[in-house]
Amino acid sequence: MKIVDPRFSVAPMLDCTDRHARFLLRLLSRHTVLYTEMVVDQALINGDPDRFLAHDNSEHPLVLQLGGSDPARLAPAARLGADYGYDQINLNLGCPSERVKAGSFGASLMAEPQRVADCYAAMQQAVDVEVTLKCRIGIDEQDSWEHFASFVETVAAAGCKTFIVHARKAWLHGLSPRQNRSVPPLNYDFVYRLKRENPGLTVIINGGLDTLPLIAEQMDRVDGVMTGRAAYHDLWMMHEVDRVLYQDNHPLPGREAVLASYIDYMTEQQAAGVPLWLMARHLVGFYQGAPGAKRWRRCIAEEVGRQGDLDTLRQAVSMMSQLMNKPATNPKTLASAVAN
Ligand SMILES: Cc1cc2nc3c(=O)[nH]c(=O)nc-3n(C[C@H](O)[C@H](O)[C@H](O)COP(=O)(O)O)c2cc1C
Repeated sequence: MKIVDPRFSVAPMLDCTDRHARFLLRLLSRHTVLYTEMVVDQALINGDPDRFLAHDNSEHPLVLQLGGSDPARLAPAARLGADYGYDQINLNLGCPSERVKAGSFGASLMAEPQRVADCYAAMQQAVDVEVTLKCRIGIDEQDSWEHFASFVETVAAAGCKTFIVHARKAWLHGLSPRQNRSVPPLNYDFVYRLKRENPGLTVIINGGLDTLPLIAEQMDRVDGVMTGRAAYHDLWMMHEVDRVLYQDNHPLPGREAVLASYIDYMTEQQAAGVPLWLMARHLVGFYQGAPGAKRWRRCIAEEVGRQGDLDTLRQAVSMMSQLMNKPATNPKTLASAVAN
């Protein structure tokens, strides 16, 4: 069975990690494992699989995340993913949104460990790549260590070896999905304990690990780290990942080289009919924290979005290059350039 290096991954994020974002992320790191957005099994089986599954070869290692709760639907959906060449299939047990609850999957499935075990078994039987789970540490009042340990035990008994754990519980009522990503407190100890007590499982920790030093620190305690928002909103942190987490010292491309490659990609995709905005929106966080970042964000969100042409984007890139290369000896000049 193909093994995916669990060390570091960028989390599945609806409306963020589409194929264009993944292409861009791959320009920044060769090794990071990339995930699709969650794809609902039924949409995949009854819809156009190409729409959900088509990807660029460069995106590997690449994981398809599925949402569902019926083994009879999840198995063929997983098979489609494997047929399209995905390196792993993941089942979402962490999403608390109303839509997901109505279909009684996502985080609400954590209340039904045996059903999860059945889903896992059916999916794993259908494919020859690994099937993994992404879960929370608990839901609602079911948030004790005993609940969590017993959930993992039931699913692991069906053969599941890899657990990606968002280290906070989810409240299924009263909190929005967004609040459920920040209000329940992080409890990394449950994840460390899971690994300590089950050394044979692959345990990947997720939630709030938003800098490379913080991520690197986890490597002694668990098998890997998954980062979501920070990797998307501060894209440039990704360009050091290969060096820091994989000890791969290949020459790093500069920002302009990465943007030039992405612009080439956008040119091709645009010619094939993809609207520019669908791709350019992923660049909003590209200069996060750098001089001129605010102006860049505005330019991408408003001007490139509105005018929809690559020349506006090229001008923004050239403006940022000038700002970045300006000697920092005259802070006043720089401050006024950034303010404009
Ligand atoms: C905009 C957005 C969309 C998300 N969509 C998904 C999803 O489709 N599937 C999933 O398992 N988690 C989803 N998540 C949760 C993330 O995968 C991750 O578990 C969460 O953001 C915590 O990690 P972080 O603190 O590093 O961001 C989403 C998060 C965000 C911010």
